[in-house]
Amino acid sequence: MGTLAGTDDLFEKISQLKRQKQAVILAHYYQEPDIQDIADHVGDSLELARAAQRTEAPLIVFAGVHFMAEGAKILNPSRKVVMPDLRAGCSLSDSCPPDAFARFRAKHPDHFVVTYINCSAAIKAQSDVICTSSNAVKIVNRIPRDRPILFAPDRNLGAYVAKQTGREMLLWQGACIVHETFSERKIIDLQIRNPEAELIAHPECEPTLLSRAAFVGSTSALLNHVIESPKQTFIVATEEGILHQMRKKAPGKNLIPAPPNQNCSCNECPFMKLNTLEKVYACLKTEAPEITVPEDVREKALVPLQRMLDWSK
Ligand code: 13P
Ligand code: SF4
Repeated sequence: MGTLAGTDDLFEKISQLKRQKQAVILAHYYQEPDIQDIADHVGDSLELARAAQRTEAPLIVFAGVHFMAEGAKILNPSRKVVMPDLRAGCSLSDSCPPDAFARFRAKHPDHFVVTYINCSAAIKAQSDVICTSSNAVKIVNRIPRDRPILFAPDRNLGAYVAKQTGREMLLWQGACIVHETFSERKIIDLQIRNPEAELIAHPECEPTLLSRAAFVGSTSALLNHVIESPKQTFIVATEEGILHQMRKKAPGKNLIPAPPNQNCSCNECPFMKLNTLEKVYACLKTEAPEITVPEDVREKALVPLQRMLDWSK
């Protein structure tokens, strides 16, 4: 929890409003620590989608990025879904525009379309099944082996899943600006200086980095790995927000954030970090900005999203 008087005051105001409005706050691991601490549920994309679907709260404050809040609305349309900053998008989602994707699909009509949850509702509506980084291998393994597969939008996750499942997959060439920023050379330097450290990585990282990693998984899987592993030191190749929960839940472990290429904070997701505690308070108070999805798109997007939830039980 925050220590500044202003922060404590905001925590109190947010808690009061939350009780008054019977709201629920869902936060992704890449949110700033104070937002994670005030949230009712902190999780990876799959866990947050499940929490959004089962909540009975009339108001969902989604502290994450747009495709996540949109997913909550698709799964639980009778709830009002708001997010702290509507500009919190995702470079991966933006790398797959609906019209271009429709043309790509039309060229491969026999392919089973698997899309990573980091995409817009309009892309989900054109998909056969959705996956997240925590269930992608399981989902692809459910597809009959005689069906060719088209995977979008993340080429890195796609290549990783193709390798794990032995399936050939046609990949949309999208990528995440944060996960493609890590410097392999600097990571090798770190490993030489810390030979006891284990490299763990999110599957949105590039294949060469993933091939060096001892463990690859979603944000939740990385967190659980750090908690459960007998190892003491980890080089963590994903957005730095996850370190907050790792420090809380595995206090004795040494965590080294994987260094980006430049001397910048490029291992912070600029979209996730648009959300602040002040904006969480403001959106809870004003119940805006609200997420809306046209009903025809929502109905089409729900089919592959629900299929993912059924297939990953
Ligand atoms: P997770 O589902 O692993 O939390 O990933 C979400 C994401 O946006 C990674 O960049
Ligand atoms: Fe999108 Fe990358 Fe940010 Fe995740 S870290 S929300 S994939 S831009």
